[in-house]
Amino acid sequence: MPECAIAVDVLRATTTMATALNNGAEAVQVFSDLDKLMADSEKWPADKRIRAGERGGGKVDGFDMGNSPLDCGPEMVAGKRIFISTTNGTRALQRIETSPTVLTAALINRKAVVDFLLSKKPETIGIVGSGWEGSFSLEDTVCAGAIAHSLLAQSGISPQEFAGNDEVFGAIALYQQWQDKLHELMQNASHGQRLLRLGVIEDLKYCAQTDILDVLPMQREPGVLVKSN
Ligand code: MLT
Repeated sequence: MPECAIAVDVLRATTTMATALNNGAEAVQVFSDLDKLMADSEKWPADKRIRAGERGGGKVDGFDMGNSPLDCGPEMVAGKRIFISTTNGTRALQRIETSPTVLTAALINRKAVVDFLLSKKPETIGIVGSGWEGSFSLEDTVCAGAIAHSLLAQSGISPQEFAGNDEVFGAIALYQQWQDKLHELMQNASHGQRLLRLGVIEDLKYCAQTDILDVLPMQREPGVLVKSN
């Protein structure tokens, strides 16, 4: 495990988590299993919890919400714990939960993540794109590239020393290609197209914005993320 591990799921889990914490959610607790989510959240006061469940891009029946960041307004989430399970994003987080520092990143909070890394200077950083059921995702790779690009520019470290593998250079190059047309990227990406087929249009615009929220989601205990800045 790297000293600092960062999960990325731009469409949409880590965008949703950043938005919920920014709007006052007490914490975000992630689950890969829907039944375990139901059982654990049952122990929480009903007026202090929101159950968010997404599979295949859609809301899971019986849950309070799916995985739309636009459902995470302060009136919905302030003071509440979000119990969430999504197709890929929450699983990616569970894969890295033993790292000493676990963060989530999306385009909307890229700067907050980069600022933290610049100030704490972890020896090793791993960025995990959630992808889709084990396959590559354009938007997650571009977000990883956005983080690496900004970090490299500000760290003063040489590219050879900075990059732990060739994927870092690939991600930076992809970010440079798409940075001025991120909404177009979302519309081209396979998961963006899946969401468009489901009628989810506004989420793509929202998720394509860069550096709009100064929020750093950090794991406080395994599976539980809080706003740490
Ligand atoms: C996931 O975890 O795969 C996603 O966040 C799916 C979604 O868009 O809701």
